[in-house]
Amino acid sequence: MTGVAHDAHRDARRDDWLTPDGSPVARPTHLLAHLSDTHLTPAGVRYNAVLDADAALGRAVDVLAAAVADGRRLDGVVVTGDLTDTGDPDAYRRLRDALDRLGVPVVYATGNHDVRTEFHRSLLGRESEQPVLQVHDLSGLRVVVLDSTIPGHGHGRLDADHLAELTAVLADPAPHGTVLALHHAPLPAPSPLLSYFALEAGSRAALARALAGTDVRLILAGHHHLPQTGLLAGVPVAVAGSTAIRTDPLAPAGHERTWASGAFGVVEFYPDTLTVSTIPVDGADMVFDLDADGCRTIVERHPID
Ligand SMILES: [Fe+2]
Ligand SMILES: [Fe+2]
Repeated sequence: MTGVAHDAHRDARRDDWLTPDGSPVARPTHLLAHLSDTHLTPAGVRYNAVLDADAALGRAVDVLAAAVADGRRLDGVVVTGDLTDTGDPDAYRRLRDALDRLGVPVVYATGNHDVRTEFHRSLLGRESEQPVLQVHDLSGLRVVVLDSTIPGHGHGRLDADHLAELTAVLADPAPHGTVLALHHAPLPAPSPLLSYFALEAGSRAALARALAGTDVRLILAGHHHLPQTGLLAGVPVAVAGSTAIRTDPLAPAGHERTWASGAFGVVEFYPDTLTVSTIPVDGADMVFDLDADGCRTIVERHPID
């Protein structure tokens, strides 16, 4: 979906915020939601035999829908692969229906659990067996999507031709810079199985070389089922947790252990920086919810000399 007008003043959330030195409150130019590894299964099949992946996605979308209804700015959603667990066409339809509810552009990458041709057919509306480089313009912020999958395999690779296409796109900078999105995170893996199914080292190095001197501000990825941040050639990398499960990086040696704990990311772009926040969606209890008057009361109790 497209058509949300860019309006830096639409989100009035910060209108009455103060700073300790009286400087202006920093306002983001763009805000993206970053979801990953939704792993939607065929109807009637539980993810990993126990989880309802549609319900897990629904919990994340509910949080975002409530924020949008509350007037929060949202320029788009990026979903970094393993959208479905087995490439079921109906699962792609359900994913699209769930996210179109938000009324903002949605950008999809494919993952090793997806089926490339079905992903292309269901979400890009095209027939192709080859990797498709997608370029999206979200109000001046360019989102370039890579396909890091190898059909029939779990690990990741970036073909030379695909990276050459990326280099050609990045030759011209975008007004607000570029975000790259791909499934296989170009970072060390957090667990034994994910190490075996990682992006090939040569691809990680080639991607690092392709970023040199470009306007890429951030890389969004998935596959690890764990919110993570790192760097690739000095460029920040943000890995979104799965909406359904969380890998345990502190499991006993040799163990691959996961928890029924979903999350997604919120990325806020500022003129001179960006922030990535992780939003768990596993049913935690609220502790407090101060309104603007309540916040003002706290401020007044803490005068600055
Ligand atoms: Fe996954
Ligand atoms: Fe994956």
